[in-house]
Amino acid sequence: MEVTDKELLTDTPIVAVDLDVLEQNISWLSNLAKEVGVKLRPHAKTHKSPYVAKKQLDAGAIGITTAKLGEAEVMVDNGINDILIAFPIIGKRKLERFGQLLKRANLMVALDDLEIARSLNEVGEKLDKEIEIYADVDTGLHRMGRSPIESVDHLYEISKLSHITIKGLMSHTGHAYQAETDEEIRRIAIEDATLLNQTKEMLAEKGVFIPEISIGATATARFIKEIPFVTEMRPGMYVFNDRFVMASGGAKEENCAVSVFATVISHPTNDRIIIDAGSKTLAQDPFKHGGHGVVKGHDNLVISSLSEEHGTIVVRGNTNLNVGDVIQIIPNHICPVINLTDNLYGFRNGELERMIPVLGRGKNR
Ligand SMILES: Cc1ncc(COP(=O)(O)O)c(C=O)c1O
Repeated sequence: MEVTDKELLTDTPIVAVDLDVLEQNISWLSNLAKEVGVKLRPHAKTHKSPYVAKKQLDAGAIGITTAKLGEAEVMVDNGINDILIAFPIIGKRKLERFGQLLKRANLMVALDDLEIARSLNEVGEKLDKEIEIYADVDTGLHRMGRSPIESVDHLYEISKLSHITIKGLMSHTGHAYQAETDEEIRRIAIEDATLLNQTKEMLAEKGVFIPEISIGATATARFIKEIPFVTEMRPGMYVFNDRFVMASGGAKEENCAVSVFATVISHPTNDRIIIDAGSKTLAQDPFKHGGHGVVKGHDNLVISSLSEEHGTIVVRGNTNLNVGDVIQIIPNHICPVINLTDNLYGFRNGELERMIPVLGRGKNR
């Protein structure tokens, strides 16, 4: 990413977005989803920004996904009103907030537990409103959900609640990021959708008909033409991409829309450089092959460790970098990086076009 106004780079670290690349990424997946006839409900956990969410909706997304109720509140406050909260709502206060938000927006909520469904059912009873849920099924990530077979009886019980409708079955193929080959990722994607569909069929035999099969992960998104049964997809990272997505084969360096600019603040030995971006900027998510991001244009630099404000870079061989020089880094995992900054600097053709407030940052309740 070129930055014409060099003065901006005297106040680092900054998290910068190449707006052209962002828009290309958004239209790439919107067009692919349209071509296949699959609805797109992107996960906003990556950008946490109504500005980016509106771009996704303008390009054809049917709504968005958020991780937390607090993120959904921010989005509704900013005019976005079709949201899947992909996280169970638990506890009195959150149920009250959810009930309030439900009066202002079309909300769906994910869960995998009968007790949680019962509490939501009470909210539905009070508001005299049907609450639409997406049920998590475990298709291999081993996070939320039971296996397809074990899901059936549990979801059948949930389906009997008076004010709950199971609108979708959902999964997240986060385990695809550990795969080493395209073939393995394709297999994970197809198996994921097949398991969701088997769950759907077993429930249909018991008289419970579920319209949506909703999958989500940027790693598997590019195979959507080959993935059967899916009605909806919820990728998040594709808007920005990062080192994880590159390693999964889902993007190249030129598709990474966000970079962190950081300044060299010390060069104490030939083989060590220190920069002004540590874990409070780059986040700590480890990359499977080591390092804390890709330093663009410097293949021989490895960000070997981070303390809160310092990044330590090991130099393999020689470098022409000096104290005061600015480097550009593609983070390992973009979502936590965005969560750590108030504003993204939006550049186009080297010029600062706009600041993008990350209004949903830190909304982890
Ligand atoms: C439930 C759920 N859906 C969708 C996604 C989006 O996947 P990705 O970040 O691979 O784009 C995530 C990411 O964590 C998720 O947890």
